[in-house]
Amino acid sequence: MSNTNTDFLLAIEDLTVSFDGFKAVDSFNLYIDKGELRVIIGPNGAGKTTVLDMICGKTKSTQGSIKFKNKELTKLREHKIVRAGVGRKFQTPSIYENLTVFENLEISYPWGRTVIGSLMFKRDQKVLDSIHKVAEQIYLIDDLDKQAEFLSHGQKQWLEIGMLLVQKPELILLDEPVAGMSVKEREATAALLNEIVRDRAVIIIEHDMDFVAQIAKKVTVLHMGKIIAEGTMDQVQNNEKVKEVYLGH
Ligand SMILES: Nc1ncnc2c1ncn2[C@@H]1O[C@H](COP(=O)(O)OP(=O)(O)OP(=O)(O)O)[C@@H](O)[C@H]1O
Ligand SMILES: [Mg+2]
Repeated sequence: MSNTNTDFLLAIEDLTVSFDGFKAVDSFNLYIDKGELRVIIGPNGAGKTTVLDMICGKTKSTQGSIKFKNKELTKLREHKIVRAGVGRKFQTPSIYENLTVFENLEISYPWGRTVIGSLMFKRDQKVLDSIHKVAEQIYLIDDLDKQAEFLSHGQKQWLEIGMLLVQKPELILLDEPVAGMSVKEREATAALLNEIVRDRAVIIIEHDMDFVAQIAKKVTVLHMGKIIAEGTMDQVQNNEKVKEVYLGH
């Protein structure tokens, strides 16, 4: 397998992980351009979350390479991968419920490694400006002083995306970001994603096909750890293998 795909922001080749001999992800290849929003779909247990776990260093691969801006990530620890510019949002929001929206965004700054450290950090205008910009993007500009526990489930998901955005990652990984959201919140999230992808790349795992149709240019379908189809939503939906294993007809 050649590793010459240096033009991509992210180039994953031959990525494989075995858990006690079971290959959860098997010879997985993925190439992502800057500005690309890629959706990964597939049935439960297909290996989608495990792919994201390997990109962000939570799970170590058994084999293969993950090149981000030409830098090999597979041997790096999680915090080094974050510092290299990869932001990850997990399935359940991990915000600080007892802090305000503003404080949650503020402590997510790269210098805010600890809650105490960042709360004592002098708030300069540049920091304030970018917090306000992100708060506007995630539709929480009027809720900056609200304690996070009082946000709706959807707003909490947006706040967590905002906490990634203040770190200015060049690649954002989102695991089912609209799960549990209302139709309106989903539409707003689609608009948000289409906006934020302009400066970076985003990989999203998603089950909701209506939502995928709103955002996806290119879809990768995973089944039993392997890619079975890749292309536009139309191409993928009309793919015989996909119909068989994923859509169930
Ligand atoms: N740390 C682990 N140890 C053992 N098996 C694991 C581990 N992580 C994942 N698996 C297994 O790997 C397979 C893929 O899991 P994964 O969570 O990636 O699927 P998924 O596509 O995200 O599914 P879902 O749509 O349900 O979230 C599953 O069979 C799962 O049980
Ligand atoms: Mg999953």
